[in-house]
Amino acid sequence: MKDFSHLFSNVSKNVCASEIRELLKIIGQKGMISFAGGLPAPDLFPAEELGEIAKKAITQNPNKALQYGSTEGSNDLRKELIKLIKQEENIDVSLDELLVISASQQGLDLAGKAFVNPGDAVLVGMPTYLGALQAFDTYAADIIGVESDDFGMKPEAIEQKLAELKEQGRQCKLIYIVPDFQNPTGTTVPTQRRIKILDIAKKYNTIILEDSPYRKVRFSGEPQETFYSLDKGQGNVITMFTFSKTLVPGFRLGYVIGNKEIIRKFVILKQAMDLCTSPTCQALAEAYLKTGKLEEHVKHMTKVYSAKRDAMLKALETYMPEGITWTKPEGGLFLFVVLPEHIDTAKMLHTAIKHNVAYVSGSAFYPDKSGKNTMRLNFSYSSFEDIDEGMKRLAQAIKEYK
Ligand SMILES: Cc1ncc(COP(=O)(O)O)c(C=O)c1O
Repeated sequence: MKDFSHLFSNVSKNVCASEIRELLKIIGQKGMISFAGGLPAPDLFPAEELGEIAKKAITQNPNKALQYGSTEGSNDLRKELIKLIKQEENIDVSLDELLVISASQQGLDLAGKAFVNPGDAVLVGMPTYLGALQAFDTYAADIIGVESDDFGMKPEAIEQKLAELKEQGRQCKLIYIVPDFQNPTGTTVPTQRRIKILDIAKKYNTIILEDSPYRKVRFSGEPQETFYSLDKGQGNVITMFTFSKTLVPGFRLGYVIGNKEIIRKFVILKQAMDLCTSPTCQALAEAYLKTGKLEEHVKHMTKVYSAKRDAMLKALETYMPEGITWTKPEGGLFLFVVLPEHIDTAKMLHTAIKHNVAYVSGSAFYPDKSGKNTMRLNFSYSSFEDIDEGMKRLAQAIKEYK
């Protein structure tokens, strides 16, 4: 085999393959029930409507839908997004405070590129979104895990880490937070805790990167205020939203809002990444937003996911052996399971796969690879029957592994 290791960059050596993306290859096997991916339910995609919209958008205005576009995103879509943000979050944003991105994952990469030099500190929750760890790893960040509980990252723990860094003469570049129905735990940070975390970020002169793809997928309880709106335009928060979980992930379309100086920096960095986010998908999203159907669509989708969450909770209650606990999220796509200490879910996955059921081992979400006795389960993708059958198989795998 040819060896290219003398040619690969340090960046390429910093990054490990995503356990989830690797897993996705296995779980395509026939008969497998997978709770591993973070996939929305495909039967809920508004495929017919998008098909009709696509035909019109492409044939009626090919120069918009099929031509190169500006890096910032099309003005027409950005105007629609500004209206949407006002309507959903009561946040006022101007055109130069908003950038259309190739979904949130690109926003994470942009944040890493814009802020992180090798060795720079970035604070994340333990556990946190794996794709963020990968993105920050690319820039050789010193990713520091912060203790979390059922309400997200603990403010005292954040402050302690920031104080330690300050003592060492180091600046924390970013505090990365998924505040609503976090991936992987499903937990939400209450507004009061957000206020405390924001105050701490300000005290230590750092920035909060708020990543909230699941915000609109709420089943019960009250929406908590975004970090962005709590900051009242002072520039301490960058917030990313995406169409991946509210409409379709295939568009690879999201948007980031923040201080215009930061957005300008992101625009320049994005120029070198992809010139612009797909104008075709932007045109489709704009046309879909103009139908005014997004709210109704999300409402319907949320109802189905809520019933699936209930089905998974019930099946866990029914089949799981003693000594296992799990989160009960008020929204989103995931719940998180904690097993007895001696169980290593990465090793147990082989047993689970033999039983034709898959999950993601929780350690993938910990920057220090702890959390070996945890796993993430997705409830949005599988059918109701598969949720029940899959939990039965998982319980069998756990009993066999024990
Ligand atoms: C917290 C979080 N951020 C970002 C992403 C990336 O989403 P996308 O790039 O599809 O917007 C995901 C996907 O699962 C996620 O869970």
